Amino acid sequence: MALTFDDGPGIATERLLDILRDKGTKATFFVLGSMAERRPDVVQRAVAEGHEIGNHTMNHKNFNQIDSGAINWEIWHSAEVLGGITGVGVKYLRPPYGIVNGVVKAAGPVILWSVDPRDWRDRDASVVRQRVLGAAHDGAIVLMHDIYGSTVDAVPGIIDGLRAGGYTMVTLSELFANKGWEPITGNVYTKIGG
Ligand code: NI
Repeated sequence: MALTFDDGPGIATERLLDILRDKGTKATFFVLGSMAERRPDVVQRAVAEGHEIGNHTMNHKNFNQIDSGAINWEIWHSAEVLGGITGVGVKYLRPPYGIVNGVVKAAGPVILWSVDPRDWRDRDASVVRQRVLGAAHDGAIVLMHDIYGSTVDAVPGIIDGLRAGGYTMVTLSELFANKGWEPITGNVYTKIGG
């Protein structure tokens, strides 16, 4: 499975990185270029500790409300910012709100999700944990947000519960490799394998 965290880096991200380090777990962060500019050190720490960084665009605009030129800027300017901070290019794109169109598909393998605990709505660690554990499946991509303390509070129990269920948590690239899938530009992935 792949745990993914969107919209950061935020105030809870370093605490999350501590938890992931202590648990020996790797994750993928779909960061916003605008947030990464504010906390480049946190993004660099995530990379140094073996996590993967994906592109969640510059400013989290709704792609149904801006034109294709603006969409391209949102995607590519963020990719440039993240490349500058990490020293490596970003491979995966997750459009805000999961809104996919032709411009989005052209920008790289698009990563959505198969497990959504709606942690942005219910700021309750126990609810978030139970939803993730209840919906877990092989090859799952789990959508969470590291900008909420309640979500970060849920993570130790999620990791322990998933391990008890026989799952391993890896980065997206590791999950693609483990399943023998090649990430392809133009494709939209909600899970990997299976
Ligand atoms: Ni988002």
